[in-house]
Amino acid sequence: MRRIAVANQKGGVGKTTTVVNLGAALAEQGRRVLVIDLDPQANASTWLGTVDARALYEVFENGAPLEKAVRATGVDNLDLVPSSSWMTRAERNATTQAGAEMILRQAVDELPHDQWDYILMDCPPALGLLCYSALAACNEVLIPVQTRVMPLAGLVALNQTIDTVKLRLNRRLRLSAVLASQVDKRTALSREVVESLRERFGDVVMETMIRESVRVAEAPGHRLPVTIYAPDSSVAHDYRAAAAEFHARSAADGETQADGRLQRAR
Ligand SMILES: Nc1ncnc2c1ncn2[C@@H]1O[C@H](COP(=O)(O)OP(=O)(O)OP(=O)(O)O)[C@@H](O)[C@H]1O
Ligand SMILES: [Mg+2]
Repeated sequence: MRRIAVANQKGGVGKTTTVVNLGAALAEQGRRVLVIDLDPQANASTWLGTVDARALYEVFENGAPLEKAVRATGVDNLDLVPSSSWMTRAERNATTQAGAEMILRQAVDELPHDQWDYILMDCPPALGLLCYSALAACNEVLIPVQTRVMPLAGLVALNQTIDTVKLRLNRRLRLSAVLASQVDKRTALSREVVESLRERFGDVVMETMIRESVRVAEAPGHRLPVTIYAPDSSVAHDYRAAAAEFHARSAADGETQADGRLQRAR
């Protein structure tokens, strides 16, 4: 089971859009996907049609099993742990608990291991407890970036955070992908941004880029991933290509499973 935190402390860069549509494209390709919405804004939950005030809150607040918080979506192979504004309270209350960043990791470790191939976590746009919880619970980080502005300074800060989390909370964590996710190929700036990302992050930058498309902005209003709302659109094809490329980058998978077995054996 690959566990991926989709993170970027900058707001509005396409985290939620990536989680919902990459998740749906992976599901369409036969992977079983669990989306965990950690953002109190609950945009991924609303998009996928289920907001549940207490589901994830109970996990953080009262140690309820995460499996109980899983809901089906209308999309085959795609399940959801919904968020709600209650998560703001959970975050506030958890700060007085020792080891609060590890609550989610423990809850994910206790999920049935053979039920999902992928867990995708949608992080809020802040480096707070909910984002650290995702980084502690995952093996991989996927960073979506916009190419309308040069994002390098923010990415360097995020990369430092990943290193710190690795040192203190989760040595298995690695940056596995940077996805340019609102690309206007006609502009020089988009090309420049992708080039400088490749210079700085090398192969971690995905070959596939997600083009800008009004279809993406329309899809949440219909409560459907863009791969279902506009299945023949160019952007739906981009997400399918991204899913195939991301799935092919599964070198760490074996290590992840071995780690899981090790932990259960302890
Ligand atoms: N490929 C795209 N084409 C056009 N619009 C897009 C695309 N990807 C994302 N957007 C739009 O950009 C906005 C921000 O996207 P999204 O909500 O996914 O970002 P986010 O990083 O999750 O934001 P937040 O930090 O608030 O959680 C949305 O209005 C979304 O519709
Ligand atoms: Mg979001």
